[in-house]
Amino acid sequence: MIRVAFFDAKAYDKPSFELYGGEHGIRFKYLEAKLNEDTVDFAKGCEAVCVFVNDTVNAAVIEKLYEYGIRLIALRSAGYNNVDLQAAFGKIHVVHVPAYSPYAVAEHAIALLLTSVRRIHKAYNRTREFNFSLNGLTGFDFHGKTVGVVGTGKIGRIFIDICRGFGMNVIAYDLFPARDSGIHYVSLDELLEQSDIISLHCPLTDETRHMIDAGAIAKMKKGVVIVNTSRGGLIDAEALLEGIKARKVGAACLDVYEEEADVFFEDRSGHILNDDLLSRLISMPNVIVTSHQAFLTEEALNNIAETTVNNILSCFEKDGACDNELCYRCGNIEQCKKQRRGKCF
Ligand code: NAI
Repeated sequence: MIRVAFFDAKAYDKPSFELYGGEHGIRFKYLEAKLNEDTVDFAKGCEAVCVFVNDTVNAAVIEKLYEYGIRLIALRSAGYNNVDLQAAFGKIHVVHVPAYSPYAVAEHAIALLLTSVRRIHKAYNRTREFNFSLNGLTGFDFHGKTVGVVGTGKIGRIFIDICRGFGMNVIAYDLFPARDSGIHYVSLDELLEQSDIISLHCPLTDETRHMIDAGAIAKMKKGVVIVNTSRGGLIDAEALLEGIKARKVGAACLDVYEEEADVFFEDRSGHILNDDLLSRLISMPNVIVTSHQAFLTEEALNNIAETTVNNILSCFEKDGACDNELCYRCGNIEQCKKQRRGKCF
């Protein structure tokens, strides 16, 4: 029996994790609390923790987990910017779910974009009130527009394929352009200058934090539509708000927000929102916010649970080698031992 403290558990997580975990003798201890320095004690008595995007897995938390005998941090997400990989190295193995449904995220980006550009959110509210006026609902054709895609990994490429289906002109920027992919790569500046729509699909790193800031927005076309289904920290939200107020940014579609950790995934409808910046953004007629929902399809939830359970089993029951292990040295073949020994350390 492997006991796993499952932090930030939501009702929609349990059916799939019970299905896959139960079959293999994994007992999940579902905790509503997010993992942080105040809640880390809930992991006592377990061998592993399972965490999501807004759990805080910093050096202090890792130290405590190590002290409690935790041997594995199993992320049930692709992104891992909330884990201090360097602090975990040599102590606790870290695994993630590199792909569960890139379609879910790419399709959500398109859903946001279509909703925004064709004013579906406005029309929906109007017709519910029997207001059948079309004033103010004018959109624009996707066909023939230039879309700039930042990050051409699994999600970015599916997004590109969908955009091509609309007859859009696709340009892209990636730190590591994919050779022979048929993707037309440009510099980040060229992408900012030429795009009618910009969609972000790269990870959050020290390098990409606030890649969309006041300077970047200044380079963009007037009326640009910005889509972010990746990580909130890619955008300086204050700069975005200023860009919207200055009528430079035509619309923003945000599934993620830098300060989302205390707000997203929770019902705050009976509360006064303390985040003035988020309140102001949400109040804008040309901003659509969804609450980190892009991953949320049945297919994705099943894949997340199945891969997480397999990751846990690989680490505990076999030789400990797991393809989905991560460390701060991964990618550096000279330094990381995973390719040679199957484990990062
Ligand atoms: P991926 O790893 O397949 O692709 C990421 C791409 O970004 C790679 O091609 C990489 O070369 C590129 N990249 C890395 N650093 C860059 C930089 N400095 N500038 C430009 N490009 C850079 O990842 P995938 O699966 O496509 O996911 C992309 C992001 O989507 C994840 O990092 C995650 O943050 C986010 N995500 C959001 C979800 C949601 O529910 N909103 C769900 C899943 C992922």
